[in-house]
Amino acid sequence: MSDNEDTLTIRDNRTGNEFTLPITDGTINAMEFRQIKEKEDDFGLMVYDPAFKNTASCRSAVTLIDGDKGILRYRGYPIEQLAEHSTFLEVAYLLIHGDLPNQVDHDAWVHDITIHTYVHQFVLRAMDGFKWDAHAMGKMVSLLGSLSTFYPDSKNVRDPALRHEHIVKIIAKMPTMAAWCFRHSQGRPYVYPDNDLDYVGNFLNMLFRMAEPRYEVNPVLRKALDVLFILHADHEQNCSANAARAVGSSEADPYCSLAAATAALYGPLHGGANEAVLRMLREIGDVKNIPAFVDNCKNGEQRLMGFGHRVYKNYDPRARIIKGLAHEVFEITGNNPLLEIALELEKIALNDEYFVKRKLYPNVDFYSGLIYQSMGFPVEMFPVLFAIPRAAGWLAQWSEMLADDAQKIARPRQIYVGAGERSYIPIDKR
Ligand code: CMC
Repeated sequence: MSDNEDTLTIRDNRTGNEFTLPITDGTINAMEFRQIKEKEDDFGLMVYDPAFKNTASCRSAVTLIDGDKGILRYRGYPIEQLAEHSTFLEVAYLLIHGDLPNQVDHDAWVHDITIHTYVHQFVLRAMDGFKWDAHAMGKMVSLLGSLSTFYPDSKNVRDPALRHEHIVKIIAKMPTMAAWCFRHSQGRPYVYPDNDLDYVGNFLNMLFRMAEPRYEVNPVLRKALDVLFILHADHEQNCSANAARAVGSSEADPYCSLAAATAALYGPLHGGANEAVLRMLREIGDVKNIPAFVDNCKNGEQRLMGFGHRVYKNYDPRARIIKGLAHEVFEITGNNPLLEIALELEKIALNDEYFVKRKLYPNVDFYSGLIYQSMGFPVEMFPVLFAIPRAAGWLAQWSEMLADDAQKIARPRQIYVGAGERSYIPIDKR
């Protein structure tokens, strides 16, 4: 292939001028368009792409999604292999450091995370300021932001040692704060971390331990949650990763950047979808109501939550793994009556022309809520269970953004469509 073939030639029909722009990695650098002007003092052409539908905002080596083939890989490793053989903490190491750890690095990483699970006692005072029915995600956003005030040195985002220290702290403290959000809403006393337990076992202990001297962690449920954590750990440039990068690009500290990412995840079109799926299945209530519900989705009156994805135009590989996991969990917890509705809904949707034509398949959130519910989580905790592991992905994306010389403060352009200049009119003259 000649050099010439890696270019794009554009003719500006306003002026007759031709421009040859380089194509790199299948993209044109948007700044190349600025040289295309009608008059010398023009600003130059911009590209218009609301919601970043066709804009690469960064170069990233963290996660690959092939949406047409239904492929997801972290740092090159297929999600199926990681879910089968790895643990969440090992995957977190992989996302942050770029490679799987050897035994020594693994043990040091797990040790560092384990000894940072305690959260400052004053955070509990902040928690007590919330109403008893405050949503767990709203609390998580606030608590994460509040940690920024405990660690002012985290503002030194250009210091690699401090960056690493706070990455460890955040991954370590997410389950503690999440469990405390849950205990707060239940009106139960807080349980402190137990460093004899592993990451997920410790989380389950802080959530569910009551008066027993030692909480017995069920190994099947522990493993299932660990796999769910692996599946949720990163998903390239999604809405919340983009929020972490955008806020982090102003060199805000990682606690504030992750509070922003958590807020982005909260929405029902993103991490809040698992909660919305469960509410939807409850609302449907019976398989006989599915056809009418599906008709409403097709009429645009509502969305089939847990279906569709900006990138996947095939079965979400995470959904496939979770569907298998659900059966293992239900053997321990008993069958979830909503499963029958979910399975039938999936079957009907996958055979319906509306969904087939638009390539709408179940995504990660379609079955995860059923597992969470069977494990004893209230729906408000579902997005929090997404946020805990996703913190590793956000931190990997945030670190990569800071190390990338091409990145600057995120600051999009706009097409101004408002009024032209007008003179102020005093209120008694309006
Ligand atoms: N139910 C019914 N119709 C849908 C759905 C759905 N869940 N999703 C998309 N469509 C239709 C949409 O109405 C549009 O139809 P038309 O071309 O006739 O206007 C077409 O499919 C394309 O949809 P879109 O809204 O342009 O697609 P998008 O890429 O902007 O949105 C999405 C992606 C995930 C926000 C959307 O599919 C959705 O709202 N799904 C339900 C919420 C959900 O499950 N979110 C979790 C996503 S996975 C977890 C995560 O990463 O956050």
